[in-house]
Amino acid sequence: MVTRAHVVGCGSYLPQKILTNDDLARKVDTSDAWIVERTGIRQRHIAAPGEMTSDLALAAARQALQNAGEAGENLDLIVLATASPDDTFPATAVKVQAALGAHKAVAFDVQAVCSGFVYALAVANNFIRLGQARTALVIGAETFSRLLDWTDRTTCVLFGDGAGAVVLRAGEGQGTNQDRGILSTHLHSDGRQHDLLYADGGPSATGTVGKVRMHGREVFRHAVVNLAEVLAEALTANGLTAQDIDWLVPHQANKRILDATAKKLGLPPEKMVVTVDRHANTSAASIPLALAEAANDGRIKPGQLVLLEAMGSGFTWAASALRW
Ligand code: ACO
Repeated sequence: MVTRAHVVGCGSYLPQKILTNDDLARKVDTSDAWIVERTGIRQRHIAAPGEMTSDLALAAARQALQNAGEAGENLDLIVLATASPDDTFPATAVKVQAALGAHKAVAFDVQAVCSGFVYALAVANNFIRLGQARTALVIGAETFSRLLDWTDRTTCVLFGDGAGAVVLRAGEGQGTNQDRGILSTHLHSDGRQHDLLYADGGPSATGTVGKVRMHGREVFRHAVVNLAEVLAEALTANGLTAQDIDWLVPHQANKRILDATAKKLGLPPEKMVVTVDRHANTSAASIPLALAEAANDGRIKPGQLVLLEAMGSGFTWAASALRW
């Protein structure tokens, strides 16, 4: 018998305010037609003034705990993925811990930008598999709108705010690809690509927060290659093929990246969960937002094979295979 981390509850939260492409076209030289054609994005949610990443994270966490029938005080671990923390320190995760009354939990943040949720999931999975935690909360939460240069049309149209969360609980498996729970996580980084996508500030470099800077075309090219490779790696490691996938839940960066990835896999589009049209790119929050939507509306069913994948600044990229 082996220990597996089972997903027992999902939750999500989106700020109330919706910013449409037409709203953006009134701020910068762009159009709904250009944004939809190049990205598939139609709108994004934007946090209200004073609404912080921890507020979004907490709302998603509460829903995930409720759906899991779990109390905050039972959590052993909280891992929160974000590139837009409330404060430079301490971690946003400890604010969530305090608000949930999760006093015995270890709580910290993981920073891998758009790949952050899969990185955080891998950390929590390893804690559970090693017996260091039995019940864990993994959150992806961002107020990316605060990192945008609202005069730069090449970046400000792409991102949005939101949060998603999952509760993991230790369970037993046979050690096969038919086990329920997280079957594998595969993570990669390549720091040589730093300058293709970064924030031009930080506490140590400039003493400022910085704004997103990106060479979109180059990022696109790397994303399609890296995502195909890491998905193949995840399938091979589990003795599975693309035909075995019931649901692909990708990081929601751009509909063209999603479609190219599905095409490379030979995956029918209806097996992919898509939220990018309504949420835009919410960085570390995009996968748990999409996962919560498809799990809570009944699309993802017990026993099904779910693949998660992400690629982001760093570069970082990652995939995880789960049996629901
Ligand atoms: N509205 C109108 N025109 C625009 C806009 C805009 N919002 N943004 C750029 N343009 C213009 C450019 O200025 C350029 O004009 P020019 O030809 O006169 O110079 C033209 O459109 C084409 O620009 P490109 O950058 O070549 O356009 P491209 O087809 O590559 O699309 C995009 C840009 C959408 C950013 C694309 O490269 C992309 O999606 N890249 C991936 C980036 C990404 O998703 N990053 C998120 C983080 S990483 C991740 O999550 C995977």
